[in-house]
Amino acid sequence: MINYRENFPLLKRICADHPLQYFDNAATSPKPQVVIDAVNDYYNLHNANVHRGPNFLAEEATTLYEDARLSVSEFIGAKREEIIFTAGTTASINLVARSWGEANLKKGDVVALSRAEHHANIVPWLQLKEKIGIVLEYIEINADGTFNAESLNKIFAQSKLRLLAITLASNVLGQYYDLNPIIKRAQSLGVICLVDAAQGITHRPLNVKELDPDFLVFSGHKLFAPAGVGILYGRRELLEAMPPFLGSGGMIAEVLEQSYTPAELPDKFEAGTPNIEGAIGLGVAIKFIKKIGWTEIVSREKVLSDYFLEKIKDLDFVKILGGEEGRLPLFSLVLKDLHPHDVADLLGERGIIVRAGHHCAQPLHDYFQVAATLRASLSFYNSLEEIDYFINSLKEIKTLLQS
Ligand SMILES: Cc1ncc(COP(=O)(O)O)c(C=O)c1O
Repeated sequence: MINYRENFPLLKRICADHPLQYFDNAATSPKPQVVIDAVNDYYNLHNANVHRGPNFLAEEATTLYEDARLSVSEFIGAKREEIIFTAGTTASINLVARSWGEANLKKGDVVALSRAEHHANIVPWLQLKEKIGIVLEYIEINADGTFNAESLNKIFAQSKLRLLAITLASNVLGQYYDLNPIIKRAQSLGVICLVDAAQGITHRPLNVKELDPDFLVFSGHKLFAPAGVGILYGRRELLEAMPPFLGSGGMIAEVLEQSYTPAELPDKFEAGTPNIEGAIGLGVAIKFIKKIGWTEIVSREKVLSDYFLEKIKDLDFVKILGGEEGRLPLFSLVLKDLHPHDVADLLGERGIIVRAGHHCAQPLHDYFQVAATLRASLSFYNSLEEIDYFINSLKEIKTLLQS
């Protein structure tokens, strides 16, 4: 197996005499050197705002920024003007809720989510419920993490169903959902679909022409790019019909004393100075992923996933949430008689970075009746040796805490 760890300066850190082992990729990914260099170059060589100053620095910055947009649009098969740079998944969903939601939803309209949503795809809709009285319904899941068919049928039978806002992959169960049939079904009923691809986009190729959502959102920082940048993809006609969300420079064609005219897409939704270096970094991160290639990424992750599932069976005090089919290398562990936070701390002392808690998915943890889990989330660059070290460390920590 090629050693891709070499690409990431973070992984060169030595912790407890051991090379840093990063099993927290679902929270945020490490950044490859090429992305860090691109961000540095922006500040060292360009450092200008975009779409503004008539000087060569501003022109260079604008070219880099717009090239990044093109990279994103090609990456997911969208048109350039359908790609809006935002601050991340959270910002993108809030934009849709406030702009599309407030303009199109009214009291009593139903918005359906799944039980497996991250809070980022729950709270904006709860806020809209408080504000205008929409009704939230949840697609229940089965113990293996799949969507419950009966519950889906009930949701689709609701005459007031207007929006389905649903995750492509669960950040807790590691389940990667086949959303194609669900989106087709929703669209045949005139229901708008928003896909939260924050986790899904980092593990499998994605094409909006095939998946065909109305909106799709993701963050740069989970995709090897800097934090504070993300994407809102929207179907052009929808974005055109939506009112602008934030107001400032950058999103206007003209401002008069008593009125303004918004700019064309995509600028209409990019008010103020954007995260220029973040967007440039995202463009470079996409090139980095493409160079490695999806075939390589998907096959390595399958090997890691299968190995992890096999090895974890040796630990009788560990149970994994969700099933084995359709799983990404992301595992939330329920630990018998051990607190996940204590274990995460002790793993940290051995140089293993994991996450403990409800991972911003409280309704899902409530469903499984667990307050907190220990999450190990891997990426293509992780190795089988790292899994061995993780499993052995878990065994030793169990002995230590119970002695
Ligand atoms: C499925 C999912 N949706 C949304 C988010 C929120 O992403 P961000 O904090 O980058 O806005 C996350 C982050 O963990 C996530 O896993």
